[in-house]
Amino acid sequence: MKPTRTPLCDFVRAYVDARPHRLHMPGHKGLPLLGCEAYDITEIDGADILYHADGVIAESQENARALFGTQKTLYSAEGSSLSIRAMLYLAQLDARSCGRTSTVLAARNVHKVFLSAAALLDFPVAWLCPEGTSLLSCPITPDVLDAALRAHSTPPAAVYVTSPDYLGHIQDIAALAHVCHRHGTLLLVDNAHGAYLHFLDTPAHPMDLLADLCCDSAHKTLPALTGAAYLHLAHTLSHETAAQAEAAMALFASTSPSYLILQSLDALNAYLGSTFRDDLRVLCKKTHAVRRTLTAHGYSLCGDEPCKLTIAPKSFGYTGDALAAILKKDRIIPEFSDPDHLVLMITPQTSDDTLKALTNTLCRLPRRAAIDTQPPVLPRPATHTTPRTALMSPAESVPIEECIGRILAQPTVGCPPAIPIAVTGERITEETVEAFRYWGITHVSVVCS
Ligand SMILES: Cc1ncc(COP(=O)(O)O)c(C=O)c1O
Repeated sequence: MKPTRTPLCDFVRAYVDARPHRLHMPGHKGLPLLGCEAYDITEIDGADILYHADGVIAESQENARALFGTQKTLYSAEGSSLSIRAMLYLAQLDARSCGRTSTVLAARNVHKVFLSAAALLDFPVAWLCPEGTSLLSCPITPDVLDAALRAHSTPPAAVYVTSPDYLGHIQDIAALAHVCHRHGTLLLVDNAHGAYLHFLDTPAHPMDLLADLCCDSAHKTLPALTGAAYLHLAHTLSHETAAQAEAAMALFASTSPSYLILQSLDALNAYLGSTFRDDLRVLCKKTHAVRRTLTAHGYSLCGDEPCKLTIAPKSFGYTGDALAAILKKDRIIPEFSDPDHLVLMITPQTSDDTLKALTNTLCRLPRRAAIDTQPPVLPRPATHTTPRTALMSPAESVPIEECIGRILAQPTVGCPPAIPIAVTGERITEETVEAFRYWGITHVSVVCS
């Protein structure tokens, strides 16, 4: 196979080597405060224009498209957050042209950017919140989805799920896509945590499983700079809607994308097209071995993702936060902890030393009496106004003890995981306050009465 070219990196390297007089932005003129400034350029002649690309960026995006096997793949230098706004906008355009309603059916564990997109685009949300939903996970079975879609006489604009979720649970995307298509609607997947899934021996990326649109945060699970992400459009999406994708990204994006991040995506293509699959295969074996070691020591693990280790440590006598504090003393920094979970993200770039240090520290700990406190049941959303009305209203911050009966303005999240405990536009109940308390929220933003 021919190696994947890196046209954008090559252009910038040649530009730096030519030692030009930089009378253009950025203001650092290539001189270091950090050290990376020389390669941080802007849209000069020859550097192409993101979302109006016909040069080195177009060639680089085409390389990414070919690697993922999509109809179209666009870069984001502003994370999946940008891609999510754009894909929801595209779903609204597609819905209008095909006679669907503007409603989006969304599994409840959305990242908060979904809510800002709902407010910006002013679409109604119908929440999917089946039995078994928790703050971080919302398992949607094909039957649940089928029943929810049957309740709509006109198909909604789209169905929106997060997969993998923060704990590493993966939805049955192929089955959900089938149900969506049978009902004449689109499946949108927040695949921020799953960019690598396409490169497994059995590809399991939403684009492999017939989702119509998805975002990937390349920076979360691939060796890319923070902010590097993709918007993928599947072959199932109409060409008319796909033709609007660049405009959709440009609508929400900065006009000054980071060329460091774009080069990171460009360089990544070469790696994804060469040894990444092999490296991932080796990594899967290693995480499987770590999983076995931890399970043998007595820990419970959850989630289906090969690149994520999620420990549910209460049965072993520790909270997730307590384990995180113990790991930190050994300079091991997890992705996320809360009372119930400890999430560790692992990629082929994780060294054997790190995995060894992790298992050493965790297996040094003795089992203690199980902690039997349970997280509060996630309050069922009692929507009072649309996200747009709530977010566009004057708001004030109040202590949680004073917020019962008020309408939530800004979504209330801990970050990470930035998943709303209560949703913009909902009336806050006693149950909601109990949930705020459990997840350490002390103040919330409510609509002024
Ligand atoms: C599930 C999920 N979706 C979307 C996002 C936003 O992604 P990004 O940080 O790349 O903008 C995150 C960020 O953590 C996330 O966890």
